[in-house]
Amino acid sequence: MSAPSLMPSPDLVHLRAAGTALVLDLSADTLPRVLHWGADLGNLSDAHLRALRLASRRQSIGFSVDQPVEVSVLPEQSAGWLGTPGLVGHRGGADFSSAFRVTGTELTAGEGTPEGRPGTVVVHARDAVAALALTLTIELTPEGLVRQRATVGNLADTPFAVDAVNLTLPVPPAAVELLDFTGHHLRERSPQRTAFTQGLRVRENRTGRTGFDSAYVLAAGSQGFGNCGGEVWAVHTAWSGNHRTFAERTFHSVALLGSGELLLSGEMLLGPGDSYTTPWQYGAYGRGLDEVSARFHRHLRARPHHPSSPRPVVVNTWEAVYFDQDLDRLKQLADTAAAVGAERFVLDDGWFGARRDDRRALGDWYVSDEIWPKGLGPLTDHVTALRLEFGLWVEPEMINEDSDLARAHPDWIMAPGARLPGAARNQQVLDLARPEAYAYILGRLDALLTEYPIAYLKWDHNRDLVEAGRRTTGRAGVHDQTLAVYRLLDELRSRHPGVEIESCSSGGGRVDLGILERTDRVWVSDCIDALERQQIQRWTNVLVPLELMGTHVGSPVSHTTGRSHPLDFRAGTALFGHFGIEWDITSAAPEELERLKQWIALYKELRPLLHSGTAVHADHADPAYQVHGVVAEDLSEAVYALVATGTSELYPTGAMRLPGLDAEAVYRVRPQAPGDIPDGNAHNWGMHLPWWTEEGVELPGAVLAEAGLQAPALHPERLVLLRVTRV
Ligand code: DGJ
Repeated sequence: MSAPSLMPSPDLVHLRAAGTALVLDLSADTLPRVLHWGADLGNLSDAHLRALRLASRRQSIGFSVDQPVEVSVLPEQSAGWLGTPGLVGHRGGADFSSAFRVTGTELTAGEGTPEGRPGTVVVHARDAVAALALTLTIELTPEGLVRQRATVGNLADTPFAVDAVNLTLPVPPAAVELLDFTGHHLRERSPQRTAFTQGLRVRENRTGRTGFDSAYVLAAGSQGFGNCGGEVWAVHTAWSGNHRTFAERTFHSVALLGSGELLLSGEMLLGPGDSYTTPWQYGAYGRGLDEVSARFHRHLRARPHHPSSPRPVVVNTWEAVYFDQDLDRLKQLADTAAAVGAERFVLDDGWFGARRDDRRALGDWYVSDEIWPKGLGPLTDHVTALRLEFGLWVEPEMINEDSDLARAHPDWIMAPGARLPGAARNQQVLDLARPEAYAYILGRLDALLTEYPIAYLKWDHNRDLVEAGRRTTGRAGVHDQTLAVYRLLDELRSRHPGVEIESCSSGGGRVDLGILERTDRVWVSDCIDALERQQIQRWTNVLVPLELMGTHVGSPVSHTTGRSHPLDFRAGTALFGHFGIEWDITSAAPEELERLKQWIALYKELRPLLHSGTAVHADHADPAYQVHGVVAEDLSEAVYALVATGTSELYPTGAMRLPGLDAEAVYRVRPQAPGDIPDGNAHNWGMHLPWWTEEGVELPGAVLAEAGLQAPALHPERLVLLRVTRV
């Protein structure tokens, strides 16, 4: 960002970036109000901004508060808003309702482009009666994301209890449908759609991690909004602890999306001079969900630490050997992995202390003498000699009661008091906000990273935080724990800048923009059944770009569902992400390995496109088929997958549209091997490929997007790839 620069008007701020506009009203006594968040409005003069403010001012209505209701980004009853308050808190029961007055505003504009200027607005306010200070930071990023956060400070010499700080963004009346997500272990990010009716729809997460059942992205949109069409306004809370995300509509014609950290009772007690800062709340507007996602993806790609090297093909040992770690067996796995083209070998759970199963030893981060009598050196030497990077699994925030660490420091376990919370996966949570525990874990991880050539940590977190109290204070500790984990990650990254870190949490239980500020990929799910993965990956991708999504090829029979899938379906599914293998390939047949090699070669050829392009999803009406792909930023090429997730009422399914291409340019479309033949047996049943697939076809982008191409009829749970190149 450059130095503060002139804005059209001191009390009206108009930020524009990448087809989005944010107009803020900073005038009068109340906190900033959003006059417009959505599509770009073009250049607006000062007079037009003032007219917009007048045009959007609410009239007062009978038998309600006499003043016009002003709904700021931190809504207050004192401004007439009777919905969910922005600040919930009190000072010994008093000062329960805030009335902030703005004391100063700072504007920082980013580089101007023909489409406008992104920028940051910082608003300082005070409530002199409640003795509170407030700082609001509201940004429009160059990718057109709005993000905001608040800091509440206690100016008095008595404690102020903060129960919630909810930030909001308004959406227009056209937003009549909601989309958010639910899920559980092995089925993350399952979409749910509801009408956006009057009242409050609130998604609370109290699991102490981002959670399987978090709202993830809460989107409000116009009737029937889809991947490519309709207007969509979406929010995400960038926080890996408890949080609340909501959509609220009132009869005043106010509709808004809101979110904040979910603070447990007494968790945030501000002493004199203390302050509390909320997580960032992100807002994305788009025509269709893909445009919303593209903003998040571009924002993540602009992170200074975003991986710039080609995403290496991973072999992870978990589903190959589980806890049965044996040097010879793992060397053989590494040899086979190298032979098919893998580039990174990750040793999963079971290498430390007495960890021979999932009941013990978390916390004892010393290499096991029993199974690794010479340390990990013999394995890391072998792996690196094969020119594979070495990765190691850790779960630093956890502790087993059956561990040397717990025996030495039973009081380092998070608990509501003397009583321990119930175990989950036989484990408890280590209080990382406790300096001694933090120093021990930092020291152990640092030592391992220093001793071994570790390029990658798979950082796991396998239980919810239940009754997670701090024994030193007796108070709830999820907030402190979340910040301690962030600090730990930041510290390790600064000590070992080259090391990549994956955020894993019983699969995909910790996927959010807070953890992604300090990690390099997420493990999408423990379920690597390709059929389930089609859904889980599609919806993880609504926020996270493909290069940050761990997508592995599992065994022929899925370990978590018992379904069987051919390699082409498994590999064609894993292709759309950061590709890996999680299968004992030492037991695979030579033909299977040969085919896997071809898929790996294709992944390597396509990864520059897959990991920098725009993710697109057609709105294919037939629920049994999905069409998704990636289009290069310069629109010169694309790859699409047609996926049959079930049998269809239609036979064949009909034309598939290929969105996202340059409408004017002509493209050549051809099936992409491997996986371009629906199935050897299909022809015996009269299932032939469409005519165009024989030679390929050349058509303008507009035709491909609007008229589309006849789709091949596929057996259920099969896919084909299409390669599209500008002529
Ligand atoms: C849960 C992870 O999601 C798995 O991939 C594996 O690492 C296990 N934990 C190991 O305990």
